[in-house]
Amino acid sequence: MDTIRFTLEQNEIPTHWYNVVSDMPNPPSPPLGPDGNPVGPEQLAAIFPMAILEQEMSGERWIPIPEPVREIYRLWRPSPLIRATRLEAALGTPARIYYKNEGVSPAGSHKPNTAVPQAYYNRQAGIKRITTETGAGQWGCSMAFAGQMFGIDVRVYMVKISYQQKPFRRSMMQTWGAEVFASPSNMTQTGRDLLAKDPDNMGSLGFAISEAVEEAASRADTNYALGSVLNHVALHQTIIGQEAKKQFEKAGDWPDVVFAPCGGGSSFAGVAFPFLADNAAGGHKGKPTRLVAVEPASCPSLTKGVYAYDFGDASGFTPLMKMYTLGHDFMPPGIHAGGLRYHGDSPLVSQLYHEGLIEAMSVQQLATFDAGVTFARAEGVIPAPESNHAISAAISEALRCKETGEAKTIFFNLTGHGHFDMAAYDSYFAGELGNFDYPAEAIRASLNHLPKVG
Ligand SMILES: Cc1ncc(COP(=O)(O)O)c(C=O)c1O
Repeated sequence: MDTIRFTLEQNEIPTHWYNVVSDMPNPPSPPLGPDGNPVGPEQLAAIFPMAILEQEMSGERWIPIPEPVREIYRLWRPSPLIRATRLEAALGTPARIYYKNEGVSPAGSHKPNTAVPQAYYNRQAGIKRITTETGAGQWGCSMAFAGQMFGIDVRVYMVKISYQQKPFRRSMMQTWGAEVFASPSNMTQTGRDLLAKDPDNMGSLGFAISEAVEEAASRADTNYALGSVLNHVALHQTIIGQEAKKQFEKAGDWPDVVFAPCGGGSSFAGVAFPFLADNAAGGHKGKPTRLVAVEPASCPSLTKGVYAYDFGDASGFTPLMKMYTLGHDFMPPGIHAGGLRYHGDSPLVSQLYHEGLIEAMSVQQLATFDAGVTFARAEGVIPAPESNHAISAAISEALRCKETGEAKTIFFNLTGHGHFDMAAYDSYFAGELGNFDYPAEAIRASLNHLPKVG
């Protein structure tokens, strides 16, 4: 019987995170304040602990993972790398397909990889309370779990459409001791203003971030934590790609192409950046690995956005970040991959895309569910709708290999399981799930509101 599940020992959990900044051809564009000048750590210290801000701005190649963080990682890491031989057979492809299963964490996704260190550094700084937002519910669960591990109270603003679609995600957060409010809420000025204009507003990640930041900025005992986009989040997620590289060595294989879903970009960064280190050094045994971010056709920031300075949230509380954006007040259609409904993208992922070092593509909602169901029927695991984006891209690549006869090695990040997304699968089976046209008009309108810089 061939080995298809490549595991590592607990003592092989990486001891350092990898900082891609050290391998970037150009330094990252700095975040800017309202006056157009770069923002320093002091200006962000009202909502983030200094250790996190140092990581956010660091150019060090390797950053040590504190032992108490590795001890929590140990509860589910290293996550397995699995060769999807049954999917390969179902597709009849000569390609070899592998996936990293991040759905094995307590929260069910890759998000605790950064929630745990964020809770740890806040605790070290004496913070007792954190606010955050959640789209699909995965990040809120991760922060609730991590807060519980380090004795921090967590309040979550959950995008209203997800709050309604996924009541059990809310129960999970409450089980780990967090408070949860549907966003827009009447707890903040941002929420009250939006509800006054549009009482039925279903929310967006951008607005939920504004609510969480507004509250954290107004209370001395409270900090804010973000589940994606920022450099330190991408950094923490590199544990995924580092483990995967060791596992591929054990498998005696190496990916030709890596796919990951891309919302704010952290799972893509996490799996792809460690391979980018090899690409920067001339490739693995002289061969580069293609790194492809996969986004929804209805919220296509990398493939259809503009590369410009924009706010990270809808209301303009955050510093300006240089990123691919659809405009900070763009309200994405209500696709089921709630975690991919974000107007912007990680500045690091954006810059690497702009400089041609990574690729991006978009897929329609129905194709992602077709792929997720094909995968579940072959491999057993029911993926999160976000993960289905990467699976769809991987299956398309495997089918291309079937046509050309190429035996490529395809690797994707299975970022989470879909056990709390079954309502979405229900609509798919009932034929009620549709595609959303590219919202060109809404994006054009929103891009008109880009802040003027310089
Ligand atoms: C399962 C899953 N995959 C992917 C994502 C996308 O986020 P990011 O681009 O930060 O990885 C999310 C976000 O909530 C998610 O829950």
